[in-house]
Amino acid sequence: MKLKTALFAIAFTGLAMGAVTAADEPQMVRQEMMKKVGGAMGALAGIAKGEKPYDAAVVTASLTTMSETAKAFPDQFPAGSETGMDTEASPKIWENMEDFKAKALKLGADADAVLAAMPADQAAVGAALGTIGPNCGGCHEVYRLKK
Ligand code: HEC
Repeated sequence: MKLKTALFAIAFTGLAMGAVTAADEPQMVRQEMMKKVGGAMGALAGIAKGEKPYDAAVVTASLTTMSETAKAFPDQFPAGSETGMDTEASPKIWENMEDFKAKALKLGADADAVLAAMPADQAAVGAALGTIGPNCGGCHEVYRLKK
């Protein structure tokens, strides 16, 4: 039992260390960021569709995640991170970095504006998604490779 625990601990430490190294790469950082944004979007969509009850704390947290993540996202595209780690980033990002940044900041600004108005019920969350949603597709169409 003790031996098993120790072996497990060693195996787990090894895994965790491997994960930390890979997770530090900008390709992984930005994919994790987008996963968070996707999760926030899903939480809001669940409320808008009535699958989940309206919850002001969830709305605030989701919009805050989108705002903060969108603003930090364009910093995760340094030269040398164009490929690798299953990135879906299009080479166009590096050709049009200013436009790409502007699109990310627009998502951040829209999330901030919605947060300031604070959607107070299911219908308002639906309307908020009408403001936020086009940012996702608008950037993905140009700057995310379809795999
Ligand atoms: C400024 C451009 C931009 C905006 C705005 C944007 N995305 Fe993304 N998104 C990307 C790029 C680029 C990738 C690919 C990143 C990579 O693979 O390195 C991506 C990837 C993703 C992924 C896949 C993550 C993974 O690897 O598993 C999800 C999910 C996602 N975006 C959701 C969203 C949602 C939801 C929104 C809107 C709320 C959004 N994105 C807005 C550029 C954007």
